[in-house]
Amino acid sequence: MNSVATDGRGLIVPVSYPPSHGETIVSSNYRLRYDFLAPRQIVFGWGRRRELGTLGRTLGRRAFLICGLPELPAEPAMDEIADLLRSEGIQAVSAAMIRREPEVEDVDRLAASLCDQNAGAGDFLLAVGGGAAVDLAKAAGAMATNRQSPTVKDYLEGVGRGLKLAGDPLPVLAMPTTAGTGAEATKNAVISSYDPPFKKSLRDNRLVPRIALVDPELTVSVPPEVTAASGMDAITQLIESYLSRKAQPIPQALCMQGLRLAVPAISEAVEEGSSRPAREKMAHAALLSGMALANSGLGMAHGVAPALGTHCRVPHGTACAVMLPVALRVNREVREPELARLAHRLFDCGPSTPPEEAVDLLIREIEALCDGVGVPRRLSELGVRAEQIPALVKDSRGSSMSGNPRELTDEELTELLEEIL
Ligand SMILES: [Fe+2]
Repeated sequence: MNSVATDGRGLIVPVSYPPSHGETIVSSNYRLRYDFLAPRQIVFGWGRRRELGTLGRTLGRRAFLICGLPELPAEPAMDEIADLLRSEGIQAVSAAMIRREPEVEDVDRLAASLCDQNAGAGDFLLAVGGGAAVDLAKAAGAMATNRQSPTVKDYLEGVGRGLKLAGDPLPVLAMPTTAGTGAEATKNAVISSYDPPFKKSLRDNRLVPRIALVDPELTVSVPPEVTAASGMDAITQLIESYLSRKAQPIPQALCMQGLRLAVPAISEAVEEGSSRPAREKMAHAALLSGMALANSGLGMAHGVAPALGTHCRVPHGTACAVMLPVALRVNREVREPELARLAHRLFDCGPSTPPEEAVDLLIREIEALCDGVGVPRRLSELGVRAEQIPALVKDSRGSSMSGNPRELTDEELTELLEEIL
């Protein structure tokens, strides 16, 4: 059994293990105990989309295609995908195109269409696109086999009737074309509504895609601003999972690896989109961030981001990035050793640097990283208005916020948002 550390409030506190190596493992008051979920198969590598047919055959004989636009590479890429499926005897059915984050109606419409086509055993969903396409596939694949209600709203956290999935969702093969959300490895699908405004998750362990086929070459055509926002989303996910009050040892190891790859690579990926090393590092880091958040949860940046999305239409990655320095500052008091460790491992900061100085340096470096890839520092630059802050505070209380290392009162959160307005 590992050493025990508590903060006196029953929170899980990371402790050094083994202390001589300065690595972190998270122990609890009781014993090391965790679950770890991940896709059944991860296939990662430049050009490996060409293995799609053989991989798809393990899931079924009919593939419903859900494509994300505009991230999707040029038309020839879609033709290539259809050809790869057909070459293995898989019927490719174009099911949906999505240009923005999925809404309740998108899921309901696609699920109804899947039912009309008798989707079931022998079928799977192939999502090619960013997090929106992958999440739409996950949610519609679940709704196609769970018809207690015709609307996904009734299954979302915190809204509707709170229904749980009874039947197994249709399997999903996820092929991400952006490096950011890590949706190819997560167990939730984020679904939005603008009337009434909410952005909530459908969550179930069985929503983890069966196969994650990650070909970083697909991200080469992603424009710089999307590369920046999605990359900062991945970095925020890695940092928040590392610090989360639900942090666990395997995800923490993944977070450190992902950050050591992504932090030095993001600028190159933004400025030189065709750089294979930079695109590979970002795609791998995003995948790791998905596995981390699926098992460890997140924190306040991801708590506020959905509210910024629904009330102010701020894209997810940008919302996370603008909140990340705030999240670091607000949690430094209760996560100083972990933040100092990140500074030591990621930046030019020797082990003899006092923890407080190391955390200062980490925050400065993350702010510089945001500046370097064009993420604004102030909410007003994203169109947020002072009178929207109460609604933002009210709608920041989702499951991500519950992973934040320390509790934030509404008053504190209001103050924090006002400070960066
Ligand atoms: Fe995210």
